[in-house]
Amino acid sequence: MIEKRNLFILVVTLWTGFVAPAAAKSGDPDAGAEIYTQFCIHCHGEEGDAVTETADRLNPPPRDFTTAQYKIKATDFEDDFPNDLDLFRMIRDGMPGSAMPGWSDVLSDQQIFDLVAYIKIFAGLEEEELGPSMEYGEQIAISAESIEQGKRLFHEGDRCSECHGKEGRGDAIKGLKDDAGFRTWPRNLTKPWNFRASNDPKDIFTRISTGIPGTQMPAFADPTSDKQLTAEERWHVANYVNSLAKTERVVRPENTVVKADHVNGELPDAVDDPLWEKTEPSTFFLVPQLIGEERFFTPSNDTITARALYSDTEFAILLEWDDRTKSIPGDETAEKISDPEIAEDGVAIQLPVKIPEGSEKPYFGMGDATNPVTIWHWKSGTTDTPQSVNLINATGFENIEQRDAASLSITAQGFYQDGTWRVIMKRPRSGVDKEKDIELIEGKAIPIAFAAWDGSNSEQGSRHTMTAWYWLLLKPDIGARPIVSAAFAGFLVFGVLLWWQRSASSKRATKDV
Ligand code: HEC
Ligand code: HEC
Repeated sequence: MIEKRNLFILVVTLWTGFVAPAAAKSGDPDAGAEIYTQFCIHCHGEEGDAVTETADRLNPPPRDFTTAQYKIKATDFEDDFPNDLDLFRMIRDGMPGSAMPGWSDVLSDQQIFDLVAYIKIFAGLEEEELGPSMEYGEQIAISAESIEQGKRLFHEGDRCSECHGKEGRGDAIKGLKDDAGFRTWPRNLTKPWNFRASNDPKDIFTRISTGIPGTQMPAFADPTSDKQLTAEERWHVANYVNSLAKTERVVRPENTVVKADHVNGELPDAVDDPLWEKTEPSTFFLVPQLIGEERFFTPSNDTITARALYSDTEFAILLEWDDRTKSIPGDETAEKISDPEIAEDGVAIQLPVKIPEGSEKPYFGMGDATNPVTIWHWKSGTTDTPQSVNLINATGFENIEQRDAASLSITAQGFYQDGTWRVIMKRPRSGVDKEKDIELIEGKAIPIAFAAWDGSNSEQGSRHTMTAWYWLLLKPDIGARPIVSAAFAGFLVFGVLLWWQRSASSKRATKDV
């Protein structure tokens, strides 16, 4: 897993692409050995074979350098090995979506080349003449026509969609294992911040051409493949894949507020209602929540996007997150691919019962005696039971009250399509029992937190992903806005400060919802 801060930096650097040194420098393996002992050994191991305690807890595991098999290479698809610049790059920039960190702020270019010289020794590659970079032909610029052509080739004969799915969310082929027997998934192409290299068209071209060794990702420059693509076609596909990035789903640290727009009349019931499209989305990181030291937990959901609307009488929130598996216990196909035991998918929001006044501190986890919380928890249902929503009130972990969601007229409906869940939750804004339920008043900063469960990834109960506290604001109609905005700005600054403080201590301090 990657730290939030690193992820943000990655997202920023992703769009700028990779700037390589003009040529590989020769490295000193003795100097490399020393740096390796200091920074790499606890993951990649003394012998470079990745037999370490840390490795046992990571998926994907650290590379075993004795096999000479690398994922990211820009050499010709027939060359078995990457060249020095490829290795340099992965060490310098790290591999997003995995535990492999980037080292550019710790090590100089020369030190990284020293490491390259050293790790090659583990596989006896030190004397190898490693191949030059592949042929790129003439790059085709991004344009609507090129993207259209790429889209056609992506779907033609199910070439890429066979694994990456109709919308590129990596949801089509399930239960894949890499060569080392670890469970893998085709990349979700709408989330380029998880690409091991980047989603720059040149990088995508390179991956398509040569594949990702050790995994099922094929090499499409291979003339023996009936799905082969010419260089020109690979540029079109690369431009199409680049266009799939959901930039509105990038997590922006300054974005801490779910802003609900006011609507006259009925709030939408359908997830594809155009009103939602007009509402500003906010995306947050989901991080694992674990009570105690359970078996290592590799979460599969990494972000959640929220949009909210309100009318004079009602409040609605649309929650959207990518999940490659629709987890319905009792469903044979779903059960076959779950690991190891299937549970329902789920999502929850947590709100305080009373809106905190002034700078009063919101509270962690499931609240406390003076700061009770209320939780709306949706579950995807089983083959025998329909989707459901539960209402929970809590004043701390030990003090949880299950309530009837219908008593508060809370409704929730989920829709699954092409690797994405969309769930709408609705509730009347007022007329509630103020001792137990929040009044959703416009113009106030209301703390809100989210949680999600991927039931095919053994997530249930306290084993799930969650966000830190953020804010919900029912944006007042124009007129009152300037005054409220000024007051709200104060909250925001406070909120961001809290957020940073929390993310530092979240592991210890956050609890189950
Ligand atoms: C926290 C654990 C960790 C540390 C520390 C770490 N790595 Fe890695 N490394 C990984 C993981 C995990 C992968 C595999 C990622 C994947 O398969 O997607 C990896 C992959 C690699 C790769 C493979 C690149 C490829 O194209 O396949 C190289 C090279 C590498 N690491 C070098 C290093 C060097 C050199 C250091 C020390 C400066 C280092 N790593 C430190 C976890 C680590
Ligand atoms: C047989 C299944 C399969 C097919 C077909 C396939 N892929 Fe993949 N792809 C994968 C897997 C698995 C991964 C993840 C590999 C890993 O674990 O690092 C992947 C990863 C990727 C990545 C991520 C690169 C990175 O830097 O992380 C891109 C981009 C990609 N595929 C594009 C494509 C395109 C475009 C096509 C069609 C031309 C295609 N794939 C066809 C299985 C497939």
